[in-house]
Amino acid sequence: MRRDKLKLLPHLFENNKKWAARIRASSPEFFSKLAAQQTPEYLWIGCSDSRVPANEIVGLLPGELFVHRNIANLVIHTDMNCLLVLQYAVDILKIKHVIVCGHYGCGGIKAAMENQPHGLVDNWLRHIRDTWRRNQAELETIPNESERNNRLCELNVLDQVINVGNTTIVQDAWRRGQSTVIHGWIYDLADGLLKDLGMCISSRDELRILQKEK
Ligand code: CO
Repeated sequence: MRRDKLKLLPHLFENNKKWAARIRASSPEFFSKLAAQQTPEYLWIGCSDSRVPANEIVGLLPGELFVHRNIANLVIHTDMNCLLVLQYAVDILKIKHVIVCGHYGCGGIKAAMENQPHGLVDNWLRHIRDTWRRNQAELETIPNESERNNRLCELNVLDQVINVGNTTIVQDAWRRGQSTVIHGWIYDLADGLLKDLGMCISSRDELRILQKEK
């Protein structure tokens, strides 16, 4: 490693120093307590989009939110990364609330609906096209393209809530009586506000009902 590399991006290190000092000023024990253990109550599964910063949106500090983010907040049954985060959250941290949070104006959703190729990401976005296909009848009644895409953002959250509920991780947790609630939310980039999509499930029965309604 070249020594001068250490001088790169100095403004970020400057920001970091100020941030840590600010937190220490209001709570001197903050970092030493947090270094000992984390006890977050929530798992956030959201989009990687830089405009949707998980902790800030819900006003939570380091240690309060376990986070997994990927393009278009997808929960794919063969995605080891996402599954391992979920497993650690549920089995080890005993997190009670799993929040799947999409956002309006999601570039992943938009790209999934375009006809031109985008390369590797098209394999990932294929899942969104499947959601679109299953909801084609409803979506085609919406004439405005951005409104149609926004509705698809909501339907995508619904599918991911169902996917979380169907993982062996959550199924096993419910079977052994461990409280695990899955929430479906959407964030609006235009006003910074979250909306609960009313698809909260906490048991296999509720999952079954949600899947039937769909
Ligand atoms: Co997005």
